[in-house]
Order: sequence, then structure tokens, then C-alpha cells
Amino acid sequence: MEAFWERAARAVDWAEPWDRVLDCDRPPFARWFVGGKLNTCHNAVDRHVDAGHGDRVAFIYDSPLAGEQRRITYRELRDQVAKLAGALRSLGVRRGDRVVIYMPMIPETAMAMLACARLGAVHSVVFGGFAPAQLAARVDDAEPKVVICASAGLEPQRIVPYKELVDQALSMARHRPARCVVLQRKEHRATLHAPRDVDWSEVVEDAEPAPCVMVDATDPLYVLYTSGTTGHPKGIVRDNGGHAVMLAHTMDRIYRVQPGEVWWTASDFGWVVGHSYIVYGPLLRGATSIIYEGKPVGTPDAGAFFRVIAEHGVVSMFTAPTAYRGIRRADPEGELLAGKDLSRLRAVFLAGERCDPDTLVWARRLLGVPVIDHWWQTETGAPITASPPGEVPVREGSAGIVMPGFDLQVLDAQGAEVPRGTVGTLAIRLPLPPGCLPTLWNDDARFVKSYLSDFAGYYTTSDAGYVDADGYVFVMSRTDDIINVAGHRLSTGEMEEVVASHPAVAESAVIGVRDELKGEVPMGILVLKQGAPTDGVAEEVIARVRERVGPVASFKRVVVVPALPKTRSGKTLRRTLRLMANGDPWEVPATTEDAGALDALAPLLIPERR
Ligand code: COA
Ligand code: AMP
Repeated sequence: MEAFWERAARAVDWAEPWDRVLDCDRPPFARWFVGGKLNTCHNAVDRHVDAGHGDRVAFIYDSPLAGEQRRITYRELRDQVAKLAGALRSLGVRRGDRVVIYMPMIPETAMAMLACARLGAVHSVVFGGFAPAQLAARVDDAEPKVVICASAGLEPQRIVPYKELVDQALSMARHRPARCVVLQRKEHRATLHAPRDVDWSEVVEDAEPAPCVMVDATDPLYVLYTSGTTGHPKGIVRDNGGHAVMLAHTMDRIYRVQPGEVWWTASDFGWVVGHSYIVYGPLLRGATSIIYEGKPVGTPDAGAFFRVIAEHGVVSMFTAPTAYRGIRRADPEGELLAGKDLSRLRAVFLAGERCDPDTLVWARRLLGVPVIDHWWQTETGAPITASPPGEVPVREGSAGIVMPGFDLQVLDAQGAEVPRGTVGTLAIRLPLPPGCLPTLWNDDARFVKSYLSDFAGYYTTSDAGYVDADGYVFVMSRTDDIINVAGHRLSTGEMEEVVASHPAVAESAVIGVRDELKGEVPMGILVLKQGAPTDGVAEEVIARVRERVGPVASFKRVVVVPALPKTRSGKTLRRTLRLMANGDPWEVPATTEDAGALDALAPLLIPERR
């Protein structure tokens, strides 16, 4: 395995070679390319210019929401990133300092990430659909020296005032960043509060371009917060060396994109997919990456994806299944494809949630190219399974075969490997390959407890599934309280904490229920305090989750019930609640004495029967 990754590491420029490919001296921790020095921004940007490809387009910004398109060459990108890095340096940002980025789908977000990488600083991008309280929690954990934001993000029906949300978040946070760099967008200008707030264009104009600072391969490149099982998000750490190697490798071997070709990931910078495959992966490969500020449907219609693919000559794209479900619902016959030339398209990759075979087959028939479901997590930063085009055929319902470097096993509750075809927990035998999280930010103990303690010698993915006789992996469900809503990873535990904070709520459960479009949506089940006013409680609870978690939670369904069903030991019967709410067959579990109450509850949870 080490020889394999050593070969893969040749795709990256190193300022100093590593002493050891893999260091497992401090189990269960593992470090890749120890002793090696490099800079990720140099590898993603400068080296392509140095190699004579400065005129090649690095980013195509396509925004139906702003009514704007822009092409940025590698040379322009290098120059703008170097100036921005110089500006950040003038604000005191140095190697190892953290910078929180709260920005929409515009090229400047990628530039902010790359400028941090250039200085050896650690960026932490927060998704714009999260509420200020979520941003505040991340600021307190990452303790950034600087926050970078835009004045606004654009959603189809509204302008999201990002800077105002930052102001609210910083008024809640304990940590005080020294500076806030604000990019003013024409659609909405923000008020700046001196001396903390500085205008992006002013600070950049005065800046000296900064060179790339070489860092250790094991130095963190970024921290990306993802939902854990509590309200406290997990700071997934990504190192510089292993990450660059893994992304360069996967762009070539899984996505099969050549330097200079146009690649499109329709996701958001705020998710791992955006980090890996809007910014770093395509640039490390010297490809052109599309930054799309729009939706699959409604900007202006369900033909938007076809337009982008045709107009920019996309060879391969990546999105979440929910996007194609939305397109299919709006345009089942693919009429909006008419007159659009998709001849350069070779494959479509889907991830973030399981892709139902119906949608996959529909999209394949329509587009005439392989549609490939593949499985990964924020923690791994790259696919664990896939069906690389030309290597193996797609098997509908499966997320593909195991990718190099991942020793995937299916385990039973005792940690024993189960036979092929049997469902169990999907676990990866240690060490994890390059690019996977080496730890959690400032929390080695939580890293070990969350991922490495369930099964000795394994990383648990917290996904359940099975492997068929031919080695195809089927990912079926999470084993914890994480749900995937329109490809967004959310914690029902976290929503439950918010719901429980309402003064009228005595008890509550938040579960994920099936949704035709978003895959899954959360549903709140409430028991109200005796004598508490009931009017408007459901609406208030919905508003509270939107305000504290964010609109992205899509928390819109609430049911009030007389009591929650429990086991004899007092645990809420969540699985049974889920089965009921989905209209699936359910049985009275042996662990409960509440059979009568369960029968009465079932009709309350299914909207059409109420
Ligand atoms: N900033 C602010 N608000 C945002 C936002 C952002 N960046 N992104 C979404 N929201 C808001 C939406 O406006 C919506 O608000 P509303 O309740 O007022 O309508 C809410 O959050 C829910 O959004 P979403 O569920 O994402 O629906 P959508 O119609 O806005 O977008 C998709 C549909 C398919 C484009 C979107 O869900 C998506 O991109 N999903 C894929 C996620 C992904 O890439 N996951 C990674 C794996 S590939
Ligand atoms: P995230 O960390 O946001 O990428 O979410 C990771 C989780 O999304 C995984 O643990 C799975 O539960 C789910 N997921 C991602 N891709 C797939 C897929 N192709 N099939 C099934 N589930 C997936």
C-alpha cells in the first residue's frame, strides 16, 4: 500500500521529500508523508502557470442568479490569490492561524480558500444555509484570527445578507476575530463596522502579493465542521500532503478528467464535495472547474444543468441525486434537453445520499452516459466506493466497488466480519488512506471515541450496508441519528435539542422520514407540557429550528402526540416511530409494554391519514 501511494505522490510537487510514507508509531493515529514539505496552493495554481499553462481557464463562474458569467485563467487566479494572501498577511494571518470563510458560490470564495492555503493558514468554510448560531459555534471552536465573508448570497426568492448573519454570529460567539474582510456584492451592500471590518477590494488593492509558504505534509490545510450526534459539530481536519495526493489521484483514476478539460461539481463550497471537487481536485489536476451559482430547477427552469453542460463543454459532472430528482419531477421527458449539445459529456457522478435506481436509470437514459452513484463522507474527503468509468459497470442500487486504499469490511455488533450479502456496519480497517481525517480539530479524544472505539482496529463509517458476491457495496442507512436532507448532512439530535428548548415542549423526538424529492426530511414529534398553551407551538418550534440550525434543515413537519412510545428502560422507540411515519410495516417491539399506545400513535404520524 505504501508503494502505491508513493507512486501516486509523484503527481504532486514537493519542496522536500518525505522521510516516511506512513507513520503509525502512535496508534491509532496515522500520518502520511511525514517530513515532506509542500504548498497546496502552489500545486493547485502556481505550478500550472510555471509549466506554461497560465492561459488555461481555471474557473468558469456561471450565475443565473446574478446574471453573470466570468472566466478566470490560472494566471489570473494566481495573481488574485497572491494579492489576497498578501492582504490577509497584512492583517496578521500566518501559518497555522485559522480563517473562517462564510461565502456563497462565487469565485472569490475559492480564492479565499486558496489564499489561506498559500500562507499555510487553516481555512474553515461554513455553509451559508446554516444559521448564525451554527456559525458562532464554529467560530468558537476554530478561534479564527480573521473571518472572510461576502455581503450577500443569492437564493431564488431572496437575498441572504451574509454579512449581517456574521454580525449576529460574532455577537453570540465568545471568540472575537480581530478582523472581518467583506466582499461587497452589487446586489446588496453591507454596513462595515470599523476597525474590525475591512473592505475586500480596498485591502487587496494595497496588498503586496504573497509567495507560497511551504508547510509540512501533516500540517492542517482546513477544518470542515460536520454534524455529529450532538449539537456540537465535529471539526474534520484535513492535512496538506495526503489530501493533495488523494485528490490528484482520484481526479485521474476515478473521475478520469484530463488537464484542460471542463469538470463541474454542482454542490457548494461549504460541503466537503465543494472543497474536494470544486476547488482542490480539479485545480490539482490542471482542469477547468465550474462554479455554478444557481439551482437545478427554477433558475430559470429544469433545463439549467443541460445548458451548463452544453455551453461550457462539460466532460464530467458531480452532484447529489436530489438535483436529478428535482429535474425529473419538473421535466420527466427531458424536453428541455432539446437543442442542447451534450456530446462531450462522458459521465455523471452522484453522492451525498443513496441514489434510488429509478432516478439513476432515468438520468442515464436521458443523458446517454454512465450515471455513477458513489459513496463517501466528509471524514474521508474522497470516495470510499465508486464505479470508475471503463473499469467496472454500474450496478443499480450499489455505490460501486471499494477504491484503492480503503480496506472495507462489514461487521456485526460484536465486530466480527459477516458473510457477503449480510447487512452490517461498514467499517474501514486502519490505517485510513491519505487524505482521510487524521483527527478532529483540538480533540484527539473525540476522534478516537467517535470513530475508532466501536471496533478495535477499524474506523466506523456509521453507515450500514452490505457487499454482494461480486464486491459491489450497497449503502443502506446510517447507524446513528444523522440524516441526509437533499444531500445535506444534518443531525436530528441537534434539532431535538432546539425543539426541546421550547418552553411548552415536555418531550420530543426528531426523526428522518422519506421524501420523494429530498430523500429524507426531518419530522418533529412533540409532547406538550400539561397546561401549556398549545396554539402556535408547532409554528414556533419550526421557526426556532430555522433560526438556530438554519433553513437548510428543511424542518417543516411537526406532529403533537399525547406521549412518546418508550422501551421498558425509558428509551424512545425511534426506529418504530420512523417506520410508522414512513407508512412502513411495524411491529410492537419486545422491549415495550406500550402496545395500545403505539396503535393509537401510528395514524397521527402519517399526514394523509390524519
Ligand atoms: N445560503 C442560504 N440559504 C440556503 C443556501 C445557502 N447557500 N442553500 C440553501 N439554502 C436555503 C434554501 O433557500 C431553502 O430555504 P427555504 O426554506 O426558504 O426555501 C433551504 O435552505 C433548503 O434548501 P435546499 O434543501 O438545499 O433546497 P434548494 O431548493 O435550495 O436546493 C438543491 C436544492 C438540490 C440544489 C440543493 O439541495 C443541493 O445542492 N443539494 C446538494 C447538496 C450537496 O451538494 N451535498 C453534497 C453531496 S454531493
Ligand atoms: P457527508 O459527510 O455530508 O458527505 O455525508 C456522508 C454521509 O452521506 C454518509 O455517511 C452516508 O450516510 C451518506 N452518503 C453519501 N454518499 C452516499 C451514497 N452514494 N449512498 C448512500 N449514502 C451516501
